[in-house]
Parts: sequence; structure tokens; C-alpha cells
Amino acid sequence: AHASAPGPSGAPVLVASNRGPVSYSVRPDGTLDARRGGGGLVSGLSAVGPEGGALWVCAALGEGDREAVRRGVLEAGVRMLDIDAEVHADAYHGIANSVLWFVHHMLYQTPLEPSFDREFRRQWAAYEQYNRAFAEALAEGAAPGAAVLVQDYHLALVPGLLRELRDDLRIGHFSHTPWAPPDYFRMLPDDIAAQLLHGMLGADRLAFLTRRWADAFTACCDAVVGGTGATRIGVHGLGADAEFLRERAHREDVAGRTAALRAQIGGADRRTIVRVDRTELSKNIVRGLRAYELLLAERPEWRERVVHLAFAYPSRQDLAVYRAYTAEVARVADEVNSRFGTPGWTPVILHVEDDFARSLAAYRLADVALVNPVRDGMNLVAKEVPVVSDEGCALVLSREAGAYEELGEDALAVNPYDVVATADALHAALTMPGPERAERTARLAAAASALPPQRWFLDQLRELRGS
Ligand code: G6P
Repeated sequence: AHASAPGPSGAPVLVASNRGPVSYSVRPDGTLDARRGGGGLVSGLSAVGPEGGALWVCAALGEGDREAVRRGVLEAGVRMLDIDAEVHADAYHGIANSVLWFVHHMLYQTPLEPSFDREFRRQWAAYEQYNRAFAEALAEGAAPGAAVLVQDYHLALVPGLLRELRDDLRIGHFSHTPWAPPDYFRMLPDDIAAQLLHGMLGADRLAFLTRRWADAFTACCDAVVGGTGATRIGVHGLGADAEFLRERAHREDVAGRTAALRAQIGGADRRTIVRVDRTELSKNIVRGLRAYELLLAERPEWRERVVHLAFAYPSRQDLAVYRAYTAEVARVADEVNSRFGTPGWTPVILHVEDDFARSLAAYRLADVALVNPVRDGMNLVAKEVPVVSDEGCALVLSREAGAYEELGEDALAVNPYDVVATADALHAALTMPGPERAERTARLAAAASALPPQRWFLDQLRELRGS
């Protein structure tokens, strides 16, 4: 477990996020299955240790979670809020994932820009209610003077609301997404934009993954609410957990997955281009497939000699636009396969079932990693691949990923919209001489693991307490 129960006087350290460290499902026999999540925040908080008495406040996300709350079986140190399912849906699907995620990633494109109508206002009221529920739970669970670390765009109003309830707390907020420049951000209705920024500015300290996102946020504050006031702004670029990944990547289940993948790839000297993503619009999976298709079309020497392992794990399937995108990814992969495939060669191997051991196996054997998001807060795949790669892996990296700020020098940088340039970069990556590839991978791995999650978390805590 990442933390023990907070003491009777409240927790000295609190984390708040929509998605918690554990999720439950009801088995056919009625018992509950608990699944622990991975990710930077889970390992980051482990640095506080059991004696730290941390409390993680999160939302119940499905029937299994709600049932766990009802049965009172949650582990110590986790408080799941059983928010009304409709309120949660409006706040999470309606506002957080359909509006705020789209604004921060600049995913709205003409003519599909939103209309902020009465329905939006109704959902916004749910978002406020949802944020208030978090603020109240945090106010109730925090020890005097406690440090509270609020996460992401789901909970942008929490700092301001919590400040009103508990002026003694140290409040921090961390954005895991990019932040859009003012010209784009001001697409939001003026009063909503101002409310959102004021909500965040209720924190003592706001933090972002890169300087670029922090500067964009500051520019939005200047444009919309006349500055950032007394709130401090920091940058903490979350890195890969190298120690954990290397150990995990050498367990037996990964070896089994490696053998299975090699059998699928076929032909011992075939090169592999690997991508691993949530099936997420910002990840730009379709243009990645088109770039690969172009490579095969224009450089026939690669046919039969390369395989693209594309792992695209379905995400946010309650939203129609994500379902459509998931279907399009599958359709385009099929198209490439029917255009170029031969009896002994499948050009694209698409896997959609989330399997961390298989992802690690792919990282280890990749010759090339393709990370081409149109916009991404950081992108940890770009950092994890070089850390676990067996023989070195060339990294084709979008300059719009936060990771580019740290890895840009040793990656092959691409404009994610430029499919021709991406195809060229794939060719350059496939033909990079072995020694150069190994040297670059070593430098990438060092840069990628410079700020492991535990340090990332403790740095924020120290900065917040120093305020
Ligand atoms: C991004 C967000 C996280 C979120 C994750 C998965 O990384 O920054 O806050 O948890 O996506 O999305 P989901 O909607 O499934 O929680």
C-alpha cells in the first residue's frame, strides 16, 4: 500500500485526483476485485511512505467502485467520493474530457469548434458541484497546515473552493496536460475562463510539466484575469521510474510476451517500429499509420523487412468521438495491411488489449519508437522506451510533446501534422547506424530518468511547504 491511515487529527499530506490509485469491479460471484493503477502519481506518493499518513481523495468511477464505497472495504489512506453518477458524468465526460481536455490540447478544429450553449452551462454547474465535493472532502480530511496536492483539469476549481473552507492549508495544483496559449484558451466563455483561472489561482503554487505550458498559463492569466497574483508557478518534468521499469521488464511474463511478439513479427531480421498509446485523439495514431504507409509506398525496399507494432489501448469509450477514433485506427491499420501485406508478412500488428508486460516486451525489442502526438503534456512512453531498450532504439518524437524539451537533442524531431516528414524520420531512424543508436539511447535514458516519480513528488511537496 502507498500510505497508511491518516491520524485522528487529519492527514498531513493529501492528494486529490479524479482517477484514484485503485479501481474495483464486481466479480460474477459478487466479490470485489481490486486493481491497482500504475503511473507517476502512484509511485510518486509512495515516497511519502506508510509513516507519512497520506490521504488520497478520488472519485468512484464505476459500479465496482461505488460498491466498494458502500461495503466500506477501501484500504486505509484512500477516500473515494461516491458522487451522483449523473453529476460525475456531466463533470467528467461533459466538461473535463470533452471541453477542458480539448482546449488544453487544442483539439477543436473548424468546423467542429464547440457551441457553448445552455447544455454546456448545465454541465458546468455539475463540474462546480463535483469540484465542491472534492474541496469539502479535503477540508474534512486535512490536518492543520497540511499540504494538499490537487491534480489536473478535472479539479481546476478545487484550490479556490478549498481556500475558502480552510485558509490554513498549503494548496498545490499540478497540470498533467499542456496549456493552450491565450488566443486558443479564450475560446471558452469569458466568465468560465475567468472562473477556471481564479479557481486554480486559489492555490499557493501551481505546477506544470514544462516551461512551455507554465508560460502559456501565465499568458492566459495576463490576458484574462490581469496576472497570476501571489500564486507561485513551478515546473516539474516527471521522468521515468528507471529502477522499477528495468526490474519489471526482466520478469518472466515479459519474456513470454517477447517470444509471442517475435512469432507474430516473423522473419528474424525484420525491424520493428513500436508505438504504445491510449487510443486518444491527441496521440495522432492515424497520421502515424499514414506515415508508415508512405514509407512502404515510397521506399519499397522496406517491404517484408519492417513491422509496425501499434498498441492502441481504448480509452474514454463513453465519448462518441473516442469510439469513432478507435474504429478509424483499426480501419486504417487494416487498410495498410491489405494494401501491402503478403502471406508471410503483416505490416501492422495492432493490439488493443491493455497489457503492460507486452508493452514492456515491445519496448525492449523496438528498433524505432514512434511518439508523434499533436500535443502532449509530457508523454512517458518516449521516456520509458530508452530506459528499457535492449540494444538501443531510435526515437521519432513530436516536437509538440512535453518530453521534447528534455529529449529533443537525441530524438528525431517531427512536426506531427507532416506525414511526409514523419515517413522520412522513420526511414532515418531505421537506417541509423547501430553505434550511433546505442549512444543516443544511453543519453536519452539518462535524460528520461533524471526526475523519477518519487523525487518529482517530494520536490513539489518541499516547494509547497516552503511557501
Ligand atoms: C491523462 C490525464 C490523467 C488521466 C489519464 C487517463 O494522462 O492527465 O488525469 O487520468 O489521461 O484518462 P482517464 O480519463 O481514463 O482518467
